[in-house]
Amino acid sequence: MKIYKGLAGVVVSETQISSIVDNQLLFAGYNIDELVTKGVSFEEVVYLLWHLKMPMEEEFQIFTTQLKENCELSDTIITCLKIQTRQNLHPMSVLRSTISLLGVFDPKAEEIDSETIYEQSLSLQAKIPTIIAAYSRLRVGLDPISPRMDISFSANFLYMLTGEEASPMMVAAMNESLVLHADHDLNASTFTARVCASTLSDIYSCITAAIGSLKGPLHGGANERVFDMLVEIENGELSVAEYLDQKLDRREKVMGFGHRVYKTEDPRKKHLKALAKKLATITGKEQWYILSCEVEEYLKTTKGLIPNVDFYSATVYHCLGINRDLFTLIFAMSRVSGWLGHISEQKNEDCLIRPRSQYVGPKNQVYQPINNQVVVGGVDI
Ligand code: COA
Repeated sequence: MKIYKGLAGVVVSETQISSIVDNQLLFAGYNIDELVTKGVSFEEVVYLLWHLKMPMEEEFQIFTTQLKENCELSDTIITCLKIQTRQNLHPMSVLRSTISLLGVFDPKAEEIDSETIYEQSLSLQAKIPTIIAAYSRLRVGLDPISPRMDISFSANFLYMLTGEEASPMMVAAMNESLVLHADHDLNASTFTARVCASTLSDIYSCITAAIGSLKGPLHGGANERVFDMLVEIENGELSVAEYLDQKLDRREKVMGFGHRVYKTEDPRKKHLKALAKKLATITGKEQWYILSCEVEEYLKTTKGLIPNVDFYSATVYHCLGINRDLFTLIFAMSRVSGWLGHISEQKNEDCLIRPRSQYVGPKNQVYQPINNQVVVGGVDI
């Protein structure tokens, strides 16, 4: 058997949702550079990922109305969120459990026909920002804020988080960040969602599984650790070079750097870097941007390491006033759009994902009943 560690370079399925071609990221054939430069809304991108075409005006109206109609959380879910604030849980674990709970209260939770999956997709996409904002407020003793019907997805999230309408510039920044994170080929969490969907499991199981994958520091969980690192450098005694050298000498990974697919440049980075610069200047938090640039430069020249999507997004989220332990949830709020598209695509593909492994453990073992085991030199044989 040839072993492909980490499935690196292995193509396991076809997709029409997104692609990485010559270091460019495309959603259903549209280059993200164009989507970002033209200020395409996150809602349009969600529609694109689910329908594989851009919406016409009327389709877009219907779609955004459907999303808005699905934003509200029931009192039971709010109560469950409140209960979870009493535990010492990571907010990604709260999100994972709450998605599971949405399944508990959905009478059609076990149904997996296309129509039900589409309805559930709208509900999950719409409710995740409300869950994040409500949890963020409840844990500091504030009441959740009801979603608004008259503003965009990004504006609504920032409004529910703070209780104030964000400036158009902040809303545009939030929107751009959501667009950039929406989908990304067969990344670990999307693969997880597709593996789960390939067994014909329900949508809540697929999304909770994907959230679990995204949470890890080698995937979406990197962004909050990037900010921890920046704070550590800023508050510490060491120069950027000394700090990074020591980290690398300990053979620790620098969060927000390196990528399985991109080896020269992550196409999302330039947009997030520009956004970080703009937001840092406007909010008077330039030190995080300047420090990030120093880290990027040092790692590039000494190790040839490149920043990935999580590096500058840490500064972007910080400047948007988001707590560091919510960074990965913002990623999830966007990436769920891709997961949902992939879950439908996988269901239509109708093929169980089930690779093999090479057994390397002991062979020819002979069973000994427990009461017949003999102890030799302190070792059971
Ligand atoms: N910090 C330090 N060294 C790194 C590194 C990082 N962030 N990313 C890669 N490297 C080094 C590896 O140690 C390896 O060195 P070696 O050849 O001397 O052993 C070399 O670069 C190749 O990296 P490799 O581990 O083979 O890449 P991968 O494709 O398996 O891993 C990641 C990709 C993303 C898991 C890895 O880059 C990483 O752990 N990054 C930090 C976490 C992160 O930001 N995750 C978000 C990804 S979008």
